[in-house]
Amino acid sequence: MEKEQLSRDSFFSVGFDLITLEENLTYDLYINSSTRENCERFVRIFPKDGRLQQEDVETFRDKYHQLYVLESQRAEYLQSLVKNENFSDIQKTEVIKDSAIGYLHKIFDPTKEFTTDILGETLVGCRDSVEYMIDVLEDYAINEVQDLIGDLSFHDFYTYDHSINVSMYCISLFKAIKPGAKREELVLAGLGGLLHDLGKIKIPTTIINNPGKLSDEDFDMIKKHPGFGGELLDEKAHCCEGVDFEIIRRVIMEHHENYNGTGYPLKMEGKDIHVLARVCAIADFFDAITTKRSYHEVLSTEDALAVMSKSVGRKIDPKIFEIFCENVNQLGLQGKLRVELPDSFDPCQPQNVLPLIAPNIKKQAEDIFKDEGQSEFGKVKGDSLFGNKKKAS
Ligand SMILES: [Fe+2]
Ligand SMILES: [Fe+2]
Repeated sequence: MEKEQLSRDSFFSVGFDLITLEENLTYDLYINSSTRENCERFVRIFPKDGRLQQEDVETFRDKYHQLYVLESQRAEYLQSLVKNENFSDIQKTEVIKDSAIGYLHKIFDPTKEFTTDILGETLVGCRDSVEYMIDVLEDYAINEVQDLIGDLSFHDFYTYDHSINVSMYCISLFKAIKPGAKREELVLAGLGGLLHDLGKIKIPTTIINNPGKLSDEDFDMIKKHPGFGGELLDEKAHCCEGVDFEIIRRVIMEHHENYNGTGYPLKMEGKDIHVLARVCAIADFFDAITTKRSYHEVLSTEDALAVMSKSVGRKIDPKIFEIFCENVNQLGLQGKLRVELPDSFDPCQPQNVLPLIAPNIKKQAEDIFKDEGQSEFGKVKGDSLFGNKKKAS
């Protein structure tokens, strides 16, 4: 056995059931041989390139409390997990999600200083998490993503689960609106979703976590988070291979813009809003009203689509929403609810009760499915899609 004096931060824990068997391991396995807290002694018990059999793992399970892998070998571990057909997609997503939460925690932890190094390191981790997510979600339609999210365990921090869910919906929705999308476009869609609320780190947690009705002043503060997020990227993000930060910045800046120009912060309108920000706005809205931890009261998928349909053309893009609905389920827009959410509804803000109101039918009829001059939205050209670098300023 080889002994190394490495701290807990140098490792992450892995499940006994989630180790690749009968082929060369691409990572080393460690245990913590110390029984004393804060006095870890990590010991390698199985080397990279060795081949494990089921009985070896059973022996480990009998003898040890927990297995660990070096942080520096996280990518190797995740790669081997994702390509292993013996593991379910839920198991894989759970592990990817835990990794993504680790990176998000580095960004959102208010006790840690937010530095260029932390953001740089974290962005690479977030990009890798999104890449693995794309591999797992390869053939998933949005309704299947929803099922997957429903089966995942959730954590204490609203922002983390929400960001990961939005990221998964963005990947899936973007694939639906652009079949055959390039890998790097899917990475941007997922990363945009994962980081859309980055600016919240600059908003006091007392405001972010307040589920009650916010004062106008507090709501004005919340409305600054897209701008804060954009500034953070401008200031801190230098490079992360294969990622166009101008597009991530636009998703962050524009995810609260409304399709009819009534959103914030810049009151951008229609197709001036980046397509990935329009995708993110739908993912954000849907997750906020269907995921249990965001509200005490949540809507069924069918009712969520019915409520969202009332915002079509006002808050959300009609054509993207149409594809979203087709992809979410076969129920169409048969939702029973005759209520809607006000345009001021903010999906990023946890609230005790959804502020449902009676519908404005006239306005709805005026706005739904207005032609935006591009009939083949599902076949958006890659170049024109991402070539528009118009700044949201
Ligand atoms: Fe937001
Ligand atoms: Fe959000």
